[in-house]
Amino acid sequence: MSTAVPVPNDLEACWLPFTPNRAFKRAPRLFARAKDMHYYTPDGRAVLDATAGLWCSNAGHCRDPIVAAIQRQAEELDYSPAFQFAHPKSFELASRVAALAPADLNRVFFCNSGSEGVDTALKIALAYHNVRGEGARTRLIGRERGYHGVGFGGISVGGIVANRKMFGTLLAGVDHLPSTYDRERQAFTKGEPEWGAHLADELERIVALHDASTIAAVIVEPMAGSTGVLPPPKGYLQKLRAICDRHGLLLIFDEVITGFGRLGHAFAAERYGVTPDMIVFAKGVTSGAVPMAGVIVRDGIYEAFMRGPEHVVELFHGYTYSAHPLACAAGLAALDLYRDEKLFERTQALEEKWADAAMTLKGQPGVLDIRTVGLTAGIDLAPHPGSPGLRAYQAMERAFAEQNVLIRIAGDTIELMPPLIVREAQIGEIFDKVGRVIKAVV
Ligand SMILES: Cc1ncc(COP(=O)(O)O)c(C=O)c1O
Repeated sequence: MSTAVPVPNDLEACWLPFTPNRAFKRAPRLFARAKDMHYYTPDGRAVLDATAGLWCSNAGHCRDPIVAAIQRQAEELDYSPAFQFAHPKSFELASRVAALAPADLNRVFFCNSGSEGVDTALKIALAYHNVRGEGARTRLIGRERGYHGVGFGGISVGGIVANRKMFGTLLAGVDHLPSTYDRERQAFTKGEPEWGAHLADELERIVALHDASTIAAVIVEPMAGSTGVLPPPKGYLQKLRAICDRHGLLLIFDEVITGFGRLGHAFAAERYGVTPDMIVFAKGVTSGAVPMAGVIVRDGIYEAFMRGPEHVVELFHGYTYSAHPLACAAGLAALDLYRDEKLFERTQALEEKWADAAMTLKGQPGVLDIRTVGLTAGIDLAPHPGSPGLRAYQAMERAFAEQNVLIRIAGDTIELMPPLIVREAQIGEIFDKVGRVIKAVV
């Protein structure tokens, strides 16, 4: 349709996700460029990125090798059909990702977002039991405060009330473990808290209630990130693994945030010495440069599907953009950077300094708890009386407008997770600025 009226480039047409649209449009926070540790606003102001974009730009922004790989790929092969055909880099990237995963987690199913990855893992779990003749195993177990994206599968096993309450009855047959967080017993812990491993025993209670023969899988984030950085209590994940083994339940780790170095290892599974049956990954696989996600499954799961006539599709699932060529090119370049710059090892080396810097805010008025693990921190602020979330929201606004630092908020928690290339001086800068912001809003 032609129109004589020019189309305005104002803010109204775009409905922003997980954003208060009216407040944003009154005072927009826009980024026009990025390089390494910084974003730049349209008027050229540098903003230090303390959130790796949205937990994804682990190698920093606009890194030359990733940019060049995407450019080359766009010229060479823009798209190749994902069903019945494929392109070489999808196999190369799958092998590289599988090589980073523990034990026999050797098969990779690609998709485009963490939410799709979670739905894919849940569907594989249900179908896996089905093809093995245990189709009664249909229940899925998540955890309170868990975040698994926004698909119906993800919000069903997830445990964040606001993400669930408007959307009907969700998936049937889902139960939840309790959250592992207890401020009274865990406040101001660096790394994994001592208290809380016994909360995994709640899985035994859930199994006793429903019977193992009706349960397909348990899904948890090894470290619950989006709910405010909750590292797992020592021994908790090991216990979950043992209970799943006892009852034949698949254990799925949602490593959308923890994958690709955030906790100092390729996957948190390695940090905790626990081998899940599936790992969901996304974000850091391309350092955020092109959307990509996937599910890594153990050999036995893949093999269970490889039966029946060879011309028949084994798993009726997939996405038009599964293993998109641009994403694969970006992923290969990102994995090269992680390896060549030893970014996961670097994260381990920085963890103690990062935690010490975070804990300098302990004792500041309005700070109720600080948690750290790998290069992450969650700082709980005392809520504004009668207006939950307002204090952290004001902190985010001021951090951006006055301190030139990008922070993330969840409720009244400030979350920090810089790119893994962060320099020590920048760690100091982040916590100095966050300290100033907290002072201003408390
Ligand atoms: C643990 C976890 N799972 C899934 C998702 C959803 O990913 P996406 O937003 O790419 O769908 C996220 C996003 O932050 C996440 O943290």
